[in-house]
Amino acid sequence: MIETHDFAQDAYLGDDGYVLGLLEGLREIELRLIPTGLHVLDQPLPSSSVEDVLALAAEHQPPPVLARLRQELASCDEGEAILRALDGRYLPPSSGGDVIRNPAAVPTGRNLHGLNPALIPTAYALRAAVRAADQLLERAQAEQGAYPRSVGLVLWGTDNLKTDGEAIGQALALIGVEPQLDDLGRVHDVRLVPLDRLGRPRVDVVITASGIFRDLFAHHLDLLDRAFRLAALADEPPERNFVRANTLAIAAELEVPLEEAALRIFSNAPGTYGTNVNFAVESSAWSAEEELARIFLSRKSFVYGRGVEGAQNGQLLERMLAGVDATFQNVDSLEFGLTDIDHYNEYLGGLTRAVEQIRGRRPAAYVGDFVMPQGKVRSVEEMVALETRTKTLNPRWYEGMLAHGYEGVREIESHVTNTFGWSATCRAVPGWVYDAIVRTYVDDEALLNRLRELNPHAARGLLARLLEASTRGYWQPSPETLAELRRRYLDLEDGLERL
Ligand code: BEZ
Ligand code: MG
Repeated sequence: MIETHDFAQDAYLGDDGYVLGLLEGLREIELRLIPTGLHVLDQPLPSSSVEDVLALAAEHQPPPVLARLRQELASCDEGEAILRALDGRYLPPSSGGDVIRNPAAVPTGRNLHGLNPALIPTAYALRAAVRAADQLLERAQAEQGAYPRSVGLVLWGTDNLKTDGEAIGQALALIGVEPQLDDLGRVHDVRLVPLDRLGRPRVDVVITASGIFRDLFAHHLDLLDRAFRLAALADEPPERNFVRANTLAIAAELEVPLEEAALRIFSNAPGTYGTNVNFAVESSAWSAEEELARIFLSRKSFVYGRGVEGAQNGQLLERMLAGVDATFQNVDSLEFGLTDIDHYNEYLGGLTRAVEQIRGRRPAAYVGDFVMPQGKVRSVEEMVALETRTKTLNPRWYEGMLAHGYEGVREIESHVTNTFGWSATCRAVPGWVYDAIVRTYVDDEALLNRLRELNPHAARGLLARLLEASTRGYWQPSPETLAELRRRYLDLEDGLERL
């Protein structure tokens, strides 16, 4: 047991290295698919990646579909298609989305259309959404001793496009509402799931939607707004209906009509997009974390609902977030996770920091990681650790990136910055992550030299970010590590000045 414990620490697997937990952790890391390299236009997937995608698709698709998928993935006519489009000629249409769920998305190089809103959320997406919502509530209850009274949800457009509306379904599931279908099977309204069938209280939800979601899913903004109203006005005991309890309390406190206190959907001002938290983090243009919260609040304080189309109401948003016990967002692909792009951080991270600002303590932050068959609800800390191990520190991942030259180094640097973003917004990055990044990219002089030769600016940026993590108190490197980092950084600065 003691040896396992030491091994676990050496492998950054924490100090609770009991054999079974360790085995499960290692299997999870081993089985996780990782993207190796970037897509190159007009080049088909390498055959090893085709096999990986097929193995995952086999969980969802019958053999004939898999056979066609194998063929389509191995061919690629994007270049020809672009030339046709530039020529103003016809391109056949296709649906988009994640190829594992929707094999009709290949071949690529066709004219993509998004969705039929009337079919969303699909029955499949709803079943997955109910499972995810139950898991989220179970986990939050186990960790906090009670159901969260309100969950802060991030809704994205691309995410709902790829999953046929799973995140929309999760919001409905949490409040205990289900879609109503018309005779043609189209989602045309919502109704309450009776409390007895629900078997738990209705959990309140505050939605922060991206500008893209707002633009693409107008019909669903409407449905969600109706769902909140139904729950808020239901004749049910407030202790079994947190939407109603919160609405009554907020109406009394802010002296506003119930109609206004039942609004739960916030997004950007009409015509604008993004939280800008990512820009502040990337440019180091902030001094206190509070500023990140303020940036998020100012961008997302526009309310949408019946009769309100993006009216600014910061007071209402802040009052809603004051009741949020947990935050949640789905990660919908293996390609783009918490450390691959800055947008999860600007949204889920920004929301979590905003709630902390208002409540004075950090809410539990979770992600729905259901891409792999053994997917589950994870804490942000767990997800950052998993992605660090499978991507940032993984030679298969970074060698795949470095094969793309300067752009690969930029990707690596951006992973470190995005990881740092989870320190800045959620303090979700343990010291071993930064230590291990140093071990991988800095202590290995040959690797650092390769980064520097391919992209000296990004290599310098990587070192600067590690130094920033230390300066801002998110990581306490040993004095030797810090001295080494500074030396390497100055070295790179010097080299750049001489360029
Ligand atoms: C969206 O699909 O809503 C989205 C995508 C990337 C960044 C932000 C939002
Ligand atoms: Mg971007």
